[in-house]
Amino acid sequence: MADDDIFKQFKEHSVAEFFKKNRQMLGFSGKVRSLTIIVHEFMTNSLDACEEAGILPELFVQVEELDKEKEHYRLTVKDNGPGIPKTHLGKALGQMLAGTKFHRYLQQRGQQGIGAAACTMFSYLTTGQPTRAISCHKGKKVVADITIDFKANKPSVSVIEESDTVDNGLTVISEFKDVKYERSNHGVYEYLRRTALANPHCSITLIEPTNERVAIPRSVIENPPRPFEIKPHPLGIGTHDLLEFAKHNKESRRMSSFLQETFSRFSAGKVEELRAIVPSVDLNKNPQNLSWDEAEMIVKGFSQLRWIAPATDSLVPIGKGHVEVSFANIFNPEVLVVTERSPKVYRGGIPFMVEVGIAYGGGVAAAGKKGEVMRFANRVPLLFDSGGCAISETIKTMDWKRYDVKDFEEEPIAVLVNLISVHVPYTGAGKQAISQEEDVMDEIKFALMEASRGVQKYLSGKRKAHEIANKKKVVSRYIQQLSGDLSSLSGEKRADIEKALTKIIEEKYAREETEVEEAAESEPAVKEPETGGEEE
Ligand SMILES: Nc1ncnc2c1ncn2[C@@H]1O[C@H](COP(=O)(O)OP(=O)(O)O)[C@@H](O)[C@H]1O
Ligand SMILES: [Mg+2]
Repeated sequence: MADDDIFKQFKEHSVAEFFKKNRQMLGFSGKVRSLTIIVHEFMTNSLDACEEAGILPELFVQVEELDKEKEHYRLTVKDNGPGIPKTHLGKALGQMLAGTKFHRYLQQRGQQGIGAAACTMFSYLTTGQPTRAISCHKGKKVVADITIDFKANKPSVSVIEESDTVDNGLTVISEFKDVKYERSNHGVYEYLRRTALANPHCSITLIEPTNERVAIPRSVIENPPRPFEIKPHPLGIGTHDLLEFAKHNKESRRMSSFLQETFSRFSAGKVEELRAIVPSVDLNKNPQNLSWDEAEMIVKGFSQLRWIAPATDSLVPIGKGHVEVSFANIFNPEVLVVTERSPKVYRGGIPFMVEVGIAYGGGVAAAGKKGEVMRFANRVPLLFDSGGCAISETIKTMDWKRYDVKDFEEEPIAVLVNLISVHVPYTGAGKQAISQEEDVMDEIKFALMEASRGVQKYLSGKRKAHEIANKKKVVSRYIQQLSGDLSSLSGEKRADIEKALTKIIEEKYAREETEVEEAAESEPAVKEPETGGEEE
């Protein structure tokens, strides 16, 4: 082949075609896992939509087995959210990288605009069937069948029915092959159980292929407070981000006002500081005309200035009280410690927060759970790809023996870690693992240490109490012998001596027991270096 001939092979393809060939990148690999990922995409969308609309989520999931041999299933997911208007229904469910979320700095579950369309794709690829959407939005009901035109990454929609309605919400019904329903650690059932754990305000009903009905009622009757949207922080963005923002900016004619409009913590004073650092860039120019070199210089300039850290009150954790209620409902453990920590910042500009809950003994042991790690990001359970995830890797580095947990893998201990952020640094489009950012791992470690100290207090207290009880038992064994001997030596009554000795021993060990109890009740002091360089 002559050199120039190879360019006859030069072609373009769309993001939909790319993911058609690489569906494993979206998490679709393995039958059980694929079904869980599909349910996960729908559940996260429903929860995001309900919370954004201020509706207490009520979610319904049904898995029906249509043909056992062909592993052919029908999945129905129904929510009571705001629904999707007819104008956007096709794009929402049939176009990749489209949605209402990926461009916003807001704590939410979806952040790419891929999930729903990926499910439509998977259904179509494995069964040739369209996905049926029933959307009730602002009094209008639309029933439509949706597929994807892969070449163009565009939805193809056929509307079946339109009518008025008093209902709310989205129902999606789709068929799948190449999937499998199983009540395993990676299955839909476990996924929903963990979703309930991190979202106690949500009520979930699951109907399994066997027709068994699993109802998980809400334990909190209020939505969590709404996280609010923030502007990106100058330290969290790169050259290309800046160029994109500049290109899409419509409001500002000058770089100086564009910077203040677009980013957080950018005052007129900061513009002047930046001007002094990058004198060769004209900050009066139109952002539309910003060049790569100029953007690069500006971003470098950002890193040389001192910034107030981004606002971190935009984040909403599950909360100590709610984690405690959820844990108590699911495990009823003997010991339960939940951290309450302040938000931090990674890459200098992206706020995040870590919550850790550790449950030990009691129901954890009864459920046969040992060294169980439950990972979450923005309240979404992460069931897969634990190897390489910042949470699992940090847990591995913990010296559990220091906390009286002799063998983490073998003890009745369950650890919950929830990472919250306006942008969770996932390792891939499947969003199942968190990348090992140093700031993030440090904070996970500190949170784990804090919770572990609480557990240790309890465990060492328990061990000491056990030791005291043992000593008391051993010493008490000598009372009879000793009182007999003393009585014959002194002539005192044996019963009196026995009584006096018992009293001495009772008092001594009661004192020691109180000391142990008091030590266990006092709060552990937690001190660690600050991360994230907050200046406020
Ligand atoms: N259950 C739902 N209720 C309302 N809107 C939804 C629902 N599911 C999806 N959407 C809309 O469809 C868009 C695309 O969803 P998705 O492909 O999962 O991407 P993402 O969740 O990352 O934004 C969402 O941004 C949202 O606007
Ligand atoms: Mg989504």
